[in-house]
Parts: sequence; C-alpha cells; structure tokens
Amino acid sequence: MNIAIVGSGYVGLVTGTCFAEVGHNVICVDNDDAKVAQLKAGKIPIYEPGLEDLIRKNVQLKRLHFTNSIGEGVEKSQVVFIAVPTPPQHDGSVDLSYVETVARQIAEHIKEYRVVVDKSTVPVKTGEKVAETIRRYAKPGVEFDVVSNPEFLREGSAVEDLMKPDRIVFGVNSSKASALMHEVYSPFNAPIMVTDLNSAELIKHASNSFLALKISYINAVAAICEASGADVEKVAAGMGADKRIGRQFLNAGLGYGGSCFPKDISAFIKISEELGYNFQLLKEVEKINADQGERFLKKLRDKLWVLKDKKIGQLGLAFKGNTDDIRMSVGIRIAEQMVKEGASLLAYDPKGMEKCNQLHPDIKTVNSAYEAANGAEALIIATEWVDFKSLDWVKIRESMRTPLIFDGRNLLDPSEMKSLGFEYYSVGR
Ligand code: UDX
Ligand code: UDX
Repeated sequence: MNIAIVGSGYVGLVTGTCFAEVGHNVICVDNDDAKVAQLKAGKIPIYEPGLEDLIRKNVQLKRLHFTNSIGEGVEKSQVVFIAVPTPPQHDGSVDLSYVETVARQIAEHIKEYRVVVDKSTVPVKTGEKVAETIRRYAKPGVEFDVVSNPEFLREGSAVEDLMKPDRIVFGVNSSKASALMHEVYSPFNAPIMVTDLNSAELIKHASNSFLALKISYINAVAAICEASGADVEKVAAGMGADKRIGRQFLNAGLGYGGSCFPKDISAFIKISEELGYNFQLLKEVEKINADQGERFLKKLRDKLWVLKDKKIGQLGLAFKGNTDDIRMSVGIRIAEQMVKEGASLLAYDPKGMEKCNQLHPDIKTVNSAYEAANGAEALIIATEWVDFKSLDWVKIRESMRTPLIFDGRNLLDPSEMKSLGFEYYSVGR
C-alpha cells in the first residue's frame, strides 16, 4: 500500500519505517526542512535500537522516502497518518494546534478518497473535530474517512513494540476505511481490535494512565516498605506473580517521566473534568509521582547534610534506559535541583548527553561513568540503563572520595554493593 506519515519524530519515523519493513511504500513527511535533509542524507535524528538499520535497508529498497511536502504525501498515498506532537498547555489540557494545522493541510491537498488516521495521542472526540476540519477546508464533494489508531510503542523498544504488538486498535466509522486499515496492518500478524472513533481515542489515555497508576502504586508501596523494613522488590515479585496483576510496570524508583505519561495523565484529568468527572484517583497518581523525586533528594540531603560544594556524580539523564530522549526526565529534574543547591555535579548518560548539553547547559557532563564517579562524595543512579549494572564497581569504589551510592532505579543488588564496600541506598528496600 502507499502510506504517508505526517510528522517524522519518535512515533512517526518508527511507524513509517516499520510499515516499509512489512512491504508498504511509505513517505515520511516533516515540516522541519533540516530534519528532512538529514534523513535524506542517511542521518537518523533520534536514537532507537534497531531503527537505523531498518531505515537504511528500506531506503535502499525504495520503500521509504522523506519529504517536506505534505501535498506529495497526500497525493501519493491512500492512507495518511498524522503523527505530530500534542504537547501539554499550562493548564494540563492538550495543545491540538499541530493536529489542526495538519488536518487543514491534508484537506487542501485531497483530490480523491483518502483515509486520514490519527496516531498522535489526542483527547476523546478529536477525530470528530479532524473530520469537521477536513470537510470545511477540502473541496466540496471530496470523500475521506477519519480513523483513530493509537500508538502503544515505548521508546527504547519502539521497533520491537511496533513489529510485534500485543494488539492493534483502530476506531473507524466506515467499512471502507476499516478494510483499508486491515490491509495496512495484516502483515503484522497481531490481534486487531476495531472500535468506534471515541473508544479508540479513550483506549490510549486509559491505558497510559493505568500504567502510570501502577508505577505510582508501587512507589507508594515503596514508601511503606522503607518505613517498615520490607523490600519492595520482593513485594513486587509476589504481587506480580498473580497473573491478574502482572510484574510489568511495578518497578519502584524515581517515578515516571518522558514525553507521554506526564502529559497524558494531566490531559486525561483535564478531559475528564471537561466531561464532568473529577478524576481524583489520577490526581493522586500525579502527586505520588512528583513526591517520589523529592523523597529521593531528601534521602540525599539527610546523608550528605548540605549539598552545596559536594562533588556528586550522576549516572543517567535520559527519561528511561535505551533512549536518548530527555523530555520530562526525572534525572534531569534531579540534576537541575542539585546544581541549584550548589552541588558540583558531573553527569553521564550513554545516549542522552548531546540533548542535555544542548538544552541544559547548566548540567555538566563527562564522557564516562568512571569520570562521573572519580573523586565524588556520592554517586546517583537516575536512569535504568542496564549498562550501569556491568560497570567495574570495584574501580568506581576505589576512585570515589566517599563511597555512597543512591540508586534511584533499584538497578544494583544491595548486598553485593555492601560487600564491595559501598554505603548503598535505593528505593523501598
Ligand atoms: C508523538 C505524538 O504523536 C504525540 O501525540 C504522542 O503523544 C507522542 O508521540 P513524537 O513523535 O514523540 O510525538 O514527537 P516529535 O519527536 O516531536 O515528532 C514530531 C514531528 O512532527 C517533528 O519532527 C516535527 O518537525 C513534525 N511536525 C510538527 C510536522 O511535520 N508538522 C507540524 O505541523 C508539526
Ligand atoms: C509509554 C507507554 O508505555 C507506551 O505504551 C506509550 O505508547 C507511550 O508512553 P514510554 O514513555 O516510551 O512509553 O516509556 P515507558 O517504558 O512506559 O516508561 C515511562 C516512564 O515510566 C519512564 O520514565 C520509566 O522510567 C518509568 N517506569 C516504567 C517506572 O518508573 N517503573 C516501571 O515499572 C516502568
């Protein structure tokens, strides 16, 4: 099939590449000329495991193309996906201006039947608005359908999530669009669930909020563990062994960050409010998440007394492991707070430093975990990079001024760290 993806960011680029990988002909559109030029020159603007090879392969096979022309995308494709940002506004509601702009631009170029698919995370009823907008700006009589097809990919494992999804959800109001969407997704061999537009949109916000709720739940349990001497890892294992609960997303730590959960949870609260429901439960999820970073910093202050002029190393800036994405990263928030309190901080992240240096010049970065630890009075782990597990911890202990570890992601084994001579603190154990 011929498919266009408007917006070639974390979601659009991976989605377009995976569509090409299963045999579709894909045009990735972006209004950022520099990004398009970069992609055309074979440079990938983001780090995502496996992505670069797939892009190279599908470009060579002439199944993946890049353009800054939305007209070209709409003209050449039966199905046009919208994957532009839907950032939060000050009051927590969603800024839909990019989606609206793209809907208008698509309308201006439609000449014959097209399926317009919203992949961006949007409030329920946005599809109806997109359809209204296209109807208003398109030539009279032009036929089209609007579909909602939420994305469930996680950064860091986006290619795998897309190639082997648990389920594919799309909300449609017409059998013609439904048939085309089945054609798009049949090569993926995954369960397909077809719903109405509004339900598909809600599935995304309800799913992300539920996952965030699981994280806040275990973080609240971690606080009880700390106060009672229990071990949150054992509690999570015991809970997670119940199939109805499941072990995933029960990792206690510094809380959730990233470009999705924080904005989606506040958006869902706002959407509910507008629909007349006070989603108190999700407000508490947000509060627990915000407190989590604070509780961690308090531990640090309790042990180091004052942070001013203390030499502190930090491992991890990305919002999670396996990504270079630092958007809404708890690690960045913690680093900034320590710098603000006068600590002399040196941070390291396997992939997130370039973006950190560009956007947060106040956070000093170094080229290795060992440099961050050298001479430090405390070392913080802020991101769950598995790479940190296999560091030479003996070398690190020997190079630190005082061997204090604050593991914000429960990445290391407490008894092992103690036997290596560290004073080791983690979350909920
Ligand atoms: C996506 C969105 O689909 C969002 O709704 C979801 O919740 C998270 O993921 P993401 O792919 O992470 O956003 O955003 P980003 O990496 O910023 O990429 C968006 C791309 O769209 C950028 O390359 C930007 O240049 C492009 N864009 C933006 C357009 O092409 N046209 C526009 O009008 C606006
Ligand atoms: C999330 C959803 O998982 C995905 O389905 C959706 O499409 C986009 O939003 P993403 O934000 O890429 O994906 O990463 P995710 O793995 O969900 O992690 C989000 C945050 O939660 C990270 O900061 C991570 O560190 C944190 N987290 C995750 C925990 O603190 N504990 C956990 O058990 C899991």
